[in-house]
Amino acid sequence: MSFTIVNQAPARLNRSEQAVPGSNTKFLQKAATGDADVVFLDLEDAVAPSEKPQARKNIVAALNEYDWSGKTVSLRINGLDTPYMYRDLIEVLEGAPGKLDLIMIPKVGTAADVYAVDVLVTQIEDTMGVDKRVGFELIIESALGMANIDAIAAASPRNESLHFGVADYAASTKARTTGIGGPNADYGVLTDTLADGTRAYHWGDMWHYAMARMVVAARANGLRPVDGPFGDIKDAEGYKAQARRAAVLGCEGKWAIHPSQTALANEIFTPDEKEVAFAQAILDAMEQAKAEGKGAVTLEGRLIDIASIKQAQVLVDKARQIRG
Ligand code: GLV
Ligand code: MG
Repeated sequence: MSFTIVNQAPARLNRSEQAVPGSNTKFLQKAATGDADVVFLDLEDAVAPSEKPQARKNIVAALNEYDWSGKTVSLRINGLDTPYMYRDLIEVLEGAPGKLDLIMIPKVGTAADVYAVDVLVTQIEDTMGVDKRVGFELIIESALGMANIDAIAAASPRNESLHFGVADYAASTKARTTGIGGPNADYGVLTDTLADGTRAYHWGDMWHYAMARMVVAARANGLRPVDGPFGDIKDAEGYKAQARRAAVLGCEGKWAIHPSQTALANEIFTPDEKEVAFAQAILDAMEQAKAEGKGAVTLEGRLIDIASIKQAQVLVDKARQIRG
């Protein structure tokens, strides 16, 4: 271990993060009783400019009227480059004091963006006499944000999670794709000629770098990395495959931009019983090894050592957190 201790953000379940447009009162009401771990009430890209004032009012009413207990509730504000952001914060934080758990800041480009929101949020909370400090979720979805990701992740003690906003990221990097997440047939590798005279074409994961980079920046700062949207809402298998890749890399969850994706995210980001049982077996075997003065042993033909304890503990702790 380094002598530098990484403080961890408050532990919250973040398997599914459901997006709900603030302009749709029916969806807002439904979201309060849905099964998402986190719900983000959107004032940004799902809401047309002319609807933003009414969407703020709808969100304030929904926060005050519905029972959100058992869920984490977030507000996606508009970007700092728009004329909407300050009103989003003032109207919702003053209209429903203490009701939000998190604020999601889109298109974060620099640490100063986070600082600016922190200043405004702190002033509002202090003025309203609210002791509960709202946390920040930061969407990494531009080349600038990715280039400054380490400084962004460390920019405020309010920071809780980083999210990969694949659609805006693709636009910002001028990626030649129009899908929202998932693979692209043009991103592949053609093998040389194989022994049987044919050549194989393997699809690659064009988002791998961005996701892996985000996971490292998040974990190095004690934050939760979360995968963003998957646009093809009819393709449950595609969604699950993307979610599994994210989980394997270290993400804690994934966005659901349609209610049907919430259950998929909850399923994939809940470690399955066999995985948890094997992780527990590793912990038990290493406990036994310690008692016998050994540093490494084999379990089901695989070498395990002291590093395996930490890996196994992650899974066992996650299962415990989900059980509650
Ligand atoms: C999310 O906001 C995205 O741009 O993918
Ligand atoms: Mg976006």
